[in-house]
Parts: sequence; structure tokens; C-alpha cells
Amino acid sequence: MNFSVQKTNWKKVRTGAVAFFHAEDKRDIRNSLKTLGRNSVSTAVETLLEAGDMAGKKDELLIVYPRKSEAAAKRVFFVGMGKKEKLSLETVRRASARAAKKAQTMKAKSLAIQMPQVPGASGAEIAAAVVEGTMLGLYKFDKFFKKEEPKVPIDNVIIIEDNGSLHGSSTAEVKAAIQEAELVTAATLFARDMENEPSNNKYPEILGNWAKDVGKEYGFKVTVFGPKELQANKMVGILGVNQGSAKEGRFIIMEYRGGPKKDAAPIILVGKGITFDTGGISIKPAPGMGEMKGDMSGAATVIATMKAVASLKLPLNVIGLVSSAENMPSGTAMRPGDVLTYANGLSVEVDNTDAEGRLVLADALIWADQYKPKSVIDLATLTGACVIALGHVTTGMMGTDTSMMERLKVAGEVTYERVCELPIYDEYDELIKSDVADIKNVGGRWAGAITAAMFLKRFTNYPWVHLDIAGTAISDTAGDYIPKGGTGVGVRLLTQMLKEEANA
Ligand code: BES
Ligand code: MN
Ligand code: ZN
Repeated sequence: MNFSVQKTNWKKVRTGAVAFFHAEDKRDIRNSLKTLGRNSVSTAVETLLEAGDMAGKKDELLIVYPRKSEAAAKRVFFVGMGKKEKLSLETVRRASARAAKKAQTMKAKSLAIQMPQVPGASGAEIAAAVVEGTMLGLYKFDKFFKKEEPKVPIDNVIIIEDNGSLHGSSTAEVKAAIQEAELVTAATLFARDMENEPSNNKYPEILGNWAKDVGKEYGFKVTVFGPKELQANKMVGILGVNQGSAKEGRFIIMEYRGGPKKDAAPIILVGKGITFDTGGISIKPAPGMGEMKGDMSGAATVIATMKAVASLKLPLNVIGLVSSAENMPSGTAMRPGDVLTYANGLSVEVDNTDAEGRLVLADALIWADQYKPKSVIDLATLTGACVIALGHVTTGMMGTDTSMMERLKVAGEVTYERVCELPIYDEYDELIKSDVADIKNVGGRWAGAITAAMFLKRFTNYPWVHLDIAGTAISDTAGDYIPKGGTGVGVRLLTQMLKEEANA
């Protein structure tokens, strides 16, 4: 799909559809009418308005067909964006997704979008939101379906603006923003593909291969540990959790050193890569267990963010670490009551084999220490408790790096991949005390998202942030640009934060 920007009048664009976005607001609709000029389309709009059938509500999409003599486009879409006070880049993403999906079902090969107005946003930012909404909205995980008819993809999206103002951005700025958004969104779709891949095709070795492929493509170093290196480095979490699986565990190290000083303190991203979580001997109930193919979403986010960072050539040092295992019950599986002694000397009683994410993450958090990191951010589909607390709306955030958490909050608003901070007060430490080891891997009924973080905290002695994406990485309902299944959450969030870091 090719995106471009053109200063031109809508009537001149030869395309399957031209889309106008407007808010639920008379003046906004009048503005669209002004841009339309006087012709059969504007007459139809007047009629629709009089009938009360066009209001700009957020689920509205009306189609008008222009006379051939009046416009080069086949159709004109009028896409509602909802309440004027709530207009934002997010409304633009959603409207773009709905327009693109409609154009796709009508087999249009191209789509022009009249650049919408968003108070306070530049043309560059608006164009980026159009790209994101379009690409994310058209995403389908359909590789397993029998192909009945060939797909007719939209291959051209043109952002148009006829008065040439581009809301305060130059054409070059808009073009650059489009290109960046394409790269970051492509990485997000890559994360979705990894998340959605079924676990008969996806086990730790495959995650390692995906990471290596990214490293080869962009020319940075990727190292993958198998059983021998896991043993040698006492990565008892990965080995223990993977013990019941017929597959081998992996630890993945991705090193992108794009900073002006190659040895400057890096930012480290850590991902939970459980390629399937049955719960192990503490086995999960059957309903919904299939969702646990997505229990490697943290890893997918890390691998895909490394791709985004490298493709943007950000002048930063970023290291991606992934702990990967398959959590299966079997005669060789780890048992509740087993004790693991980690490489840093800390011992852990495994009270519940279904709390496996924190066990594998601990290996990565210990490993991260040797880089003397500026900050370590881990991402994990870690707890059902986080979903109970926050639903599917926002990611849970906990940690010790308060300035990084502030920056992630800002990046969360910009990308709409929002994060919500939960406390990690010392009192919660009481809940993971064990009778037989230094700590245990579950904290009981209360504050489950927090006790998981308290566990992780014990393995960090550098500025650290934990993002629990259990509720946001896997979607059970389809939104405008978030389909059912893997969402790729975190890629846009982290890349936005890293872009800001690079500019600082
Ligand atoms: N992968 C799950 C958490 C999860 C649940 C992710 C729902 C996405 C959706 C994790 O490994 C897990 O099983 N956590 C347990 C922890 C408990 C045993 C302390 C949970 O949340 O029930
Ligand atoms: Mn589990
Ligand atoms: Zn899990």
C-alpha cells in the first residue's frame, strides 16, 4: 500500500472513493460542503442534512455517487467522527479505518482522504494518524483460509488538501510523517502476526528465528541461547517452566546500537515469550485456553519494536531480551512446591506453575543488569488480575523508574495505547513471602497484578518499569482498527517514547 499527500481539489482525483471526515457539528459539515463546491454531491448532502440523515455521528458512513462530468472519483464517503469536543488523532485513526474498510469491501483500489481538522494537531500528525488507522484497520489474519477469490487490496491512499495549508506542516514534513508512520505501523502488524500464529507453528525456537530474521534484515546482532547456554547461565526460570514441553526453551538477545556512543547505557526492553500457557501442572480450565497462544505478546512487542527502531534508524542504544518457553503439563513438568535458585542467588518456591511468566522474566531481568541500563521496561501478558482491574482499555504499569513512567504516560496519550499506574508499596512484599524459600511465585487472592510486579522487582537493581498487557494484547471484540486477536499493543507506545528519547 502506497501513501502520498497531494495539494489538489477532490474533483480531480481519479480514485475509487474520496472521503470527507467531519465532526457531529453543523459548522464542520458546512466546511465539507464548501470544499465540495456546488454540484450533485453537495445537493445530495443538503438533502441528507434536511432529512436528518447526516449528523457526523461516530459510526456514520454515507456514500454519494458523483456524476462523471463533475468528479473523477467514483464515490464520495462522508465519515462521521463524533462529538466536536472529543476530536483527536484517535478519532482520525478510527474514521480512517472505517473509510478504508468500506473502500476495501467495495473493491476500490484507491482511496483519497480530504485531510481532516483536529484542533491542536499539525498536518504531519494528522497524516500519521490516517496512515495508522488505515493500515491497522485493514489488517486481517487470514492466511489459513482457503482462497476463494483473489484479494483486491487498496494499493493507493492519497491524503488531499486543496487550499494547500496542510495545517501548519510543509509537504516535506507530512511526507516524512507518513513514512515514519508506515514503518511503525508495519512493525505493529508484524507483532499481530506473531501473536496470532497458532502454537503448533510457534514455539521458542520459532520466536528465536523471527528475532534473527529482524536482526539480519537491519544488520544488528541477535544471539539465541538454547538448552546448553541456558544451563551455563543458570537460567532456571526458562528451564523450569519449559521442563514439561517437548520443545526446547530459548533466551533471545537483540542488540541495536545506533547511538552516537556504542557503549552508552542502553534502554532495555524485556518480553515474556510463553508460546503457549496451559498453566502446566496447575492446569487452566478449558474455556478460552486457546487465547494463551498469545502469551508471547510481550515478546512479539519487543521483537517488533526492535524492528521499528532499526527501520527508523533511531540514534539510540536499545537492547531487546526475550525469555521464551512453552508451559506444558507432563511427566517431566515442574511441580508446585519445587524450588528454583536463580543466578543472582535468590530462591523461589513455585507455588503455582501457572504463574510462569514472572519465573521466565526473572532470568531476563538478572541478565539485563550486566549492561548497566539506563532503564529496563518489561512487557508481559502477566496476570488475569490486571484484566479484572483495568479491563481491556488500558495497560497496567508499575515500576521504580518514575521519569520513564511519566514519559510512557505521555506516549500512551499520543498513541492511544494508554498506561495506568498501579502502586508497588512495600506492604505488598509481605504477600510473596515463602516458608521454604526467599520468595514464592504467587501472592494469593488480592492485588494479583501488583504482587506479580513485587516479584519482578526483586530481580531488578536499576530503573525499571513493568507493563502488564494481559488485557490489551489480546482483544475479544473487534474495534474500528483493532480486530479480534492480537493487537500488537506496545509497539507504537514504545517507539513513540523512544522517538522522544532520541529527540531529547
Ligand atoms: N498468561 C497468564 C495471564 C493471562 C490471563 C494473560 C488472561 C492474558 C489473559 C499468566 O501466566 C497466568 O496464568 N497468571 C495467573 C497467575 C496466578 C496463578 C497467580 C492468573 O492470572 O491467573
Ligand atoms: Mn500462566
Ligand atoms: Zn502466562
